[in-house]
Amino acid sequence: MNMSNKISFFGEPVPLEMHKVKIVQKLSLNPIEERQLVMNAAGNNTFLLKNENIFLDMLSDSGVNAMSDNQLAAMMQSDDSYAGSKSFTKLEETSKKIFKKDYIIPVHQGRAAENILARVFVKQGDIIPMNYHFTTTKAHILINGGTVVELFTPEAMKMSSADPFKGNMDTDALRKLLEKEKAKIPFVRMEAGTNLIGGQPFSLENLRQVKAICSEHNIPIVLDASLLSDNLYFIKVREEAQKDSSIEEITKQISDLCDIIYFSARKLGSARGGLMLTSNRKYYEQILELVPLFEGFITYGGMSVREIEAISVGLEETMDFDMIKHGPEFIEFMVKELEKRNIPVVTPAGGLGCHLNAKEFIPHLKPTEYPAGSLGAALFIAGSIRGMERGTLSEERNPDGSEHIAEVELLRLALPRRVFTMSQIKYAVDRIHWLYENRNLIGGLKWVSEPKILRFFVGRLEANSDWQEKLVKKFRADFGDSL
Ligand code: F0G
Repeated sequence: MNMSNKISFFGEPVPLEMHKVKIVQKLSLNPIEERQLVMNAAGNNTFLLKNENIFLDMLSDSGVNAMSDNQLAAMMQSDDSYAGSKSFTKLEETSKKIFKKDYIIPVHQGRAAENILARVFVKQGDIIPMNYHFTTTKAHILINGGTVVELFTPEAMKMSSADPFKGNMDTDALRKLLEKEKAKIPFVRMEAGTNLIGGQPFSLENLRQVKAICSEHNIPIVLDASLLSDNLYFIKVREEAQKDSSIEEITKQISDLCDIIYFSARKLGSARGGLMLTSNRKYYEQILELVPLFEGFITYGGMSVREIEAISVGLEETMDFDMIKHGPEFIEFMVKELEKRNIPVVTPAGGLGCHLNAKEFIPHLKPTEYPAGSLGAALFIAGSIRGMERGTLSEERNPDGSEHIAEVELLRLALPRRVFTMSQIKYAVDRIHWLYENRNLIGGLKWVSEPKILRFFVGRLEANSDWQEKLVKKFRADFGDSL
């Protein structure tokens, strides 16, 4: 039985929230003229905006999912002690129950796990095959002398697709690579809910095939489970063979196929921290050795005990279909509303958020005018909605100083889990629609100050013409006094 509770008697299906709101945070929606000033003061970089000036913060789902009453209650009972905290024992027990792994290692967030993994397993000249890279993962592999080889399927790069599992690994390519380069491959990495291609899942069947190939060559699989909750949802609703499996059963099957699992608990577990799990004693000892050096003692790993308590409860709640369906169902609703208006958006709907395809939204911009960045600035001005650029701005320049043009230009609009209401989503769709109708007004951006490394975080840009003034004027003409 598909346990979806969509209201669908008279009209079109609407996803139904299986929770109620108990605590709220006041938001403000400032006039468009102020939004333009604020965006310019932030160098047209949405990372540099202040939260107090934002209506809908769709920058990320990291550390900002809504927490449950049970998570907050557990935080009050946390056991503060440098070593041997009861809270950690609880987290160990919960994670062992869910993932059936013997050893649990705490770290302060996802990239801390990536740092340790890369230090333990990656050496100069190594190759790490993966379904797709994530920025921090790749950075840690590169810094330790390795390279990343992405083995995605052709569908993954199609912005518009009906493939339910665009996060699958190309198993033929994996087989060929392992036959040729086996000696240089310390592990194969699979990422659940593949972040950078639009929160797209892999299927359990694909993971099984990857495991079979890796086993032939005795190569371990490392799973980045940061976006596992969305991937679990998609396996249950999109993979025919799993439709009657419980979320616990699917999790166990995934876990059994992976040798090491790590995740950012800022996403999975809806708190703030990270975890690594394995049943391999040797790996455990190698990893554990680095925890006191980089993270903290082995029973807190840089996390606050309150967060450790919240992660335990958050992981248990991830096994509840009602708790994990809200994100993907709201994203699907938003994507469908945008599609109805012919607005270019990544399909099929994935997890994490809704991804606007800036290349098609504003095709008149050159890649060096930063389409996704410009769209991000324009959407903030039009609606006080903060997205994240995932395009050329997020790349590093080539060694000769020329631009490295990104394959895709996306504006990611994250839907942190259980945070936004249906009317807020409808508001966002409406403002995106207005912007699309006025897309010819959107111009490009140029650098004012450009850092050498990870420039998208703190770099500052300005509009390359008076297009933002024109956009504000048109908004006033269309919306009158309205915000
Ligand atoms: N892996 C994936 C798939 C992620 O999405 C992230 C973070 C990390 C690793 C690193 O985890 O932030 O706890 O150190 N993604 C955030 C985002 C930053 O906005 O998508 P972290």
